[in-house]
Amino acid sequence: MPRPIIIDTDPGIDDALAIMLAAASPEVEILGIVAVAGNVGIERTAPNAAALADLLGLECPVGRGAAAPLWREATYAPQVHGENGFGGYELPVSNRTLEPGVPLLARLIEESAEPVTVVAIGPLTNIAMLMVEHPKTARRIERIVIMGGGALRDQGNATPTAEFNIFVDPDAAAKVFAFGVPITMVGLNATHQALVGAQHLPDLMASGGPAARMVAHLLGSYSDDANAETAETGMAQHDSLALAAVLDPAIITTEHLFVDVENTGRRTTGMTVIDYLGRWGAPNCDVAFGVDVERFRALLNTRLTELDARLVAGAGA
Ligand code: BDR
Ligand code: CA
Repeated sequence: MPRPIIIDTDPGIDDALAIMLAAASPEVEILGIVAVAGNVGIERTAPNAAALADLLGLECPVGRGAAAPLWREATYAPQVHGENGFGGYELPVSNRTLEPGVPLLARLIEESAEPVTVVAIGPLTNIAMLMVEHPKTARRIERIVIMGGGALRDQGNATPTAEFNIFVDPDAAAKVFAFGVPITMVGLNATHQALVGAQHLPDLMASGGPAARMVAHLLGSYSDDANAETAETGMAQHDSLALAAVLDPAIITTEHLFVDVENTGRRTTGMTVIDYLGRWGAPNCDVAFGVDVERFRALLNTRLTELDARLVAGAGA
């Protein structure tokens, strides 16, 4: 039986690949997609999520979540994702009705017969709000797989110590890590190993359908000044690595550790602080360290090619 998932996201170039990967994969059933402000404002991320759901033929509901962090000013990343969040790639505007995001999260978790995995690939504002407003419902979540944070030398991209998703709303992230639901953290130390360029997706690039065209554009327009990534090396696929870890857990190796989020630091606001000595508390998080990059690239290539073939066949039907 497919694992029920909800994707909480700020699409977002790498978010788009993650959502495509989920849509292409029989291991999961997407119950809903909930947008949050992050890479660009909610007035972009929510319509982007809806437009992507249309492209992929997803019938699940799409939610419009938080427009700003819990208590801080919003921070965006148009230098990485473009002003429209998709590096300038335009999808047809969706005419779906968007549901309020946090109530949608609560409803989907309550209505699911099986415990839900939440794949959180944007700032954690919606998830923290769910925990505050619907704590009993939030406790029913089986696991939250977070793309966020970092370990060892790969701590930050928004600042030297903070990864973007955590940096945008460190207060929300601190609540989520402290809440007590099992967490997998797929941080920069893992995602910086997951470099993917068009050359790693040969079957998809040859396929030439709507998913292939969008992915080719997204890979070509994605840039991240914080790292020495080029078209030759490929770009770090942060969000789809987190999704891939749900589909095929052997893609990452993890260590069970205590993680907290610094939200008052002088230079460390938004840093995921990992206790390797076991002094601050019981482990609350499976932190990803190792990545089987070839397995990840092969999964993306195979699944997105199958998806593209389905979309081409559907368009012709
Ligand atoms: C994360 O930040 C966003 O820019 C990406 O979509 C990803 O979720 C990487 O730090
Ligand atoms: Ca994201």
